[in-house]
Amino acid sequence: MHENDIIELNIEDFTGEGMGVAHLNGMTVFVQGGCPGDLVAAKITKVKKNFATAIVKDILNSSKHRVKPFCPMQNICGACSMQFIDYDYQLELKRKIVQNALLKVGGINFDVPIPVKSPEKFSYRHKIQYSVSRTKVSKRLLIGYYKPNSHDVVNIKHCPIQPEICDKIIEYIREKAPDYNITGYSENEHNGLLRHIILRVSKHTGQVFVALVINDNKITPELKKFATSVKEKFTEVTGISANFNTKQTNVILGEKTQNIVGMDFVEDKLLENTFKIGTNTFFQVNPETAENIFIYIKDYIKSNFDKPTILDAYAGIAAIGMSVADVAQNVVSVELSSESCQKALAGLDENGIKNLTVINSDTEKYLKKIKRKFDLIITDPPKKGSTKSVLEGFMKSCKDTIIYVSCNPATLARDLKYLIEKGCKLISIKPFDMFCHTHHVETVAIIKMPENTYSID
Ligand SMILES: C[S@@+](CC[C@H](N)C(=O)[O-])C[C@H]1O[C@@H](n2cnc3c(N)ncnc32)[C@H](O)[C@@H]1O
Repeated sequence: MHENDIIELNIEDFTGEGMGVAHLNGMTVFVQGGCPGDLVAAKITKVKKNFATAIVKDILNSSKHRVKPFCPMQNICGACSMQFIDYDYQLELKRKIVQNALLKVGGINFDVPIPVKSPEKFSYRHKIQYSVSRTKVSKRLLIGYYKPNSHDVVNIKHCPIQPEICDKIIEYIREKAPDYNITGYSENEHNGLLRHIILRVSKHTGQVFVALVINDNKITPELKKFATSVKEKFTEVTGISANFNTKQTNVILGEKTQNIVGMDFVEDKLLENTFKIGTNTFFQVNPETAENIFIYIKDYIKSNFDKPTILDAYAGIAAIGMSVADVAQNVVSVELSSESCQKALAGLDENGIKNLTVINSDTEKYLKKIKRKFDLIITDPPKKGSTKSVLEGFMKSCKDTIIYVSCNPATLARDLKYLIEKGCKLISIKPFDMFCHTHHVETVAIIKMPENTYSID
């Protein structure tokens, strides 16, 4: 098998990275665009010692789960990596992704149920983050996503998983920015002004907050005029801020953000609580699925505890903490980002919550410092999961149950393995479809501590 060979492959399985899996002469081949059940002609893109990668060129015999992709940009954008697979089978594959990760990474044999469906399958995203560049000759603005494995920006005119208002705002920026001498950023030349655009959209109000990431450290009069024109054009826009990022870096946001016009946030709701979301505030990508997760956690607490003390670790704006505050004695929400902590404090006032404390700290440092124990720990770490030291901290500080919310089955499995080796018991796994049409999946695990010293009587 060599690079550029075209070979026939039977797609047998699907990986957690969104690739079809085939075998040929004892070699595993990861096939981009392959759906289990397909017979395809695929072009080999890489050959390594133990595996190869390939891309589908022709479908010789189609899987019964194959459907017409809904987005014309699917080959270029690559974000909705499962859009050519019917929705019910997407869920079955995600179920298997979680089950396989538990087994292969964690050595845990657990029957994983089908993920809870997303209430919205299109227009579900709360956050849109586009890169900006420019055409070589006419210097027109390009606004969209990078082509796979490159930093070439592809113009996106319509994205079906985003609310439609986003397309309109982006189109206006693309067309009108040059009138205000706003240029697109060139990564190679490290010049041009506009680097990225972030939109935060509230499903409840239909309002949008816009952040412009710029290669400058001040707001020029022209930028102010341009931002004002965007705000005036769209009544949905609550405000526009500039984030200053003049470094030659792949990191999207610079350290400083300054409001240009209107508010520096958009308000959104999760269940009965209202939140103010700004440029760099973490907010669940699919708010309706997040609400389903919060309801599931709250129901579990109501059925198994009587007003427990709760640690809400990796809390963000304390969205989970606030959603369970009324069934808790008290909640401590620990979060690293000071911006998110400020937004959480504003949320406490707004939502009249009195039994929740926000701590601006690294989770590990907080756990090392405290002497107290919590009845229940809810943890929702970033993709990389927790560290051993944090898991040890949980073991030390938790009396009864850990509820682990994860967006990465592999790191969840690794962390569960550690907790199980320390004597904890995994009692439930429930996936939720947070990221429809992509291979990503959100999972909630419920874990009991080794010695159940806690009594609800
Ligand atoms: C997946 S988000 C969860 C947010 C929140 N639970 C929610 O539902 O909105 C992870 C959060 O962990 C925070 N974070 C990352 N590393 C951290 C650390 N070492 N200690 C505390 N928080 C951290 C991030 O800033 C982010 O807000």
